[in-house]
Amino acid sequence: MLNVPIFEGMNESTEFKALVVRELENGTFSRTIETKKIADLPKGEVLIKNSFAGLNYKDALSASGHKGISRNYPHTPGVDACGSVAHSDSEAFKNGDEVIVTGYDLGMNTSGGFQEFIRVPEAWVVPKPLGIDLREAMVYGTAGFTAALSLYKMEKMGQNPGMGPILVTGATGGVGSMAVGILAKAGYEVIASTGKKDAAAHLKKLGATQIVDRAFANDQSHRPLLRSQWAGAIDTVGGNTLATCVKGCGRKGSVASCGLVGAHELNMTVYPFLLNGINILGVDSAETDMPLRKEIWKRLSTEWKINELKSYGQFITLDAIIEHMDLILKGKTKGRVVVEF
Ligand SMILES: NC(=O)c1ccc[n+]([C@@H]2O[C@H](COP(=O)([O-])OP(=O)(O)OC[C@H]3O[C@@H](n4cnc5c(N)ncnc54)[C@H](OP(=O)(O)O)[C@@H]3O)[C@@H](O)[C@H]2O)c1
Repeated sequence: MLNVPIFEGMNESTEFKALVVRELENGTFSRTIETKKIADLPKGEVLIKNSFAGLNYKDALSASGHKGISRNYPHTPGVDACGSVAHSDSEAFKNGDEVIVTGYDLGMNTSGGFQEFIRVPEAWVVPKPLGIDLREAMVYGTAGFTAALSLYKMEKMGQNPGMGPILVTGATGGVGSMAVGILAKAGYEVIASTGKKDAAAHLKKLGATQIVDRAFANDQSHRPLLRSQWAGAIDTVGGNTLATCVKGCGRKGSVASCGLVGAHELNMTVYPFLLNGINILGVDSAETDMPLRKEIWKRLSTEWKINELKSYGQFITLDAIIEHMDLILKGKTKGRVVVEF
């Protein structure tokens, strides 16, 4: 039971709006905005009144019935949410605290962010750092967190701006846009690879120094090594694009593999690793442990904070989330789509 509600009159019967994905008898999936009750939420120490929730590619897959992401329906997707603590059974949080939840199982097989309230284990909750507000936290969301985690890992392996530019693939997407902005803020030259003809102004504003067509990062020569044109890469595409990032990377550079919008396989030789000392770094943002998670959020809110961060968010209502899920699956969104409650 809620014994210390932040909202007067609120209890387990309090109703709120939620996106609900249902599996239909014919094997298709419906997506509707429905009314739920607090009692419908899973157990957890911290109840959060959401202010914002960010849309990610994975959410659109979950909402399409992708069983590799969400096994059981009805389900509310949404791997990112932030807002104020509405009730806490945790000593670490009190009512009204502004908090962020991204990753872990939120929106996967735990009822997610595309609803007005979430209830989660205290171990998933990050106190919002001082240097950003809740709106900015969700412009980052998992996308910004993943981009920052990629750079963090690259720098741990010795990457630095003096080595040369960093290639970012899928540059107008959520992770890609955030990577371009964070890298620029951290002092790197950025080569932004995109399939969108009209994206130059957006990418330049974020800090890209060079904008190239997707084909640039999709080598068809099948050569094991390419002339190096970048010193490191953050790849959101996978497949041959990831192979190209590795084959064309300068000596001792790092390539962060964080996405698979193009393909999930990797077909290449080991020569870039053995002859050029390239590091390929796996990025799994969802299960990042709490000390590193807090460190990444600290960087996102201080030295890596993207200039004019809010301007990269497109703020929509919960009702509009369904059409934006279709757009992100077609690779047609630019920057970050954020639900504002
Ligand atoms: N490892 C992690 O922890 C983690 C965290 C978050 C996301 N991810 C993954 O990262 C990827 C990107 O996620 P996101 O949320 O940023 O998605 P997104 O917003 O849809 O961005 C993906 C971008 O990739 C490009 N793209 C789309 N289809 C493509 C294709 N067939 N070939 C080449 N490029 C294509 C498009 O950018 P351009 O038009 O500019 O080329 C698109 O905007 C996804 O695979 C997601 O699952 C992983």
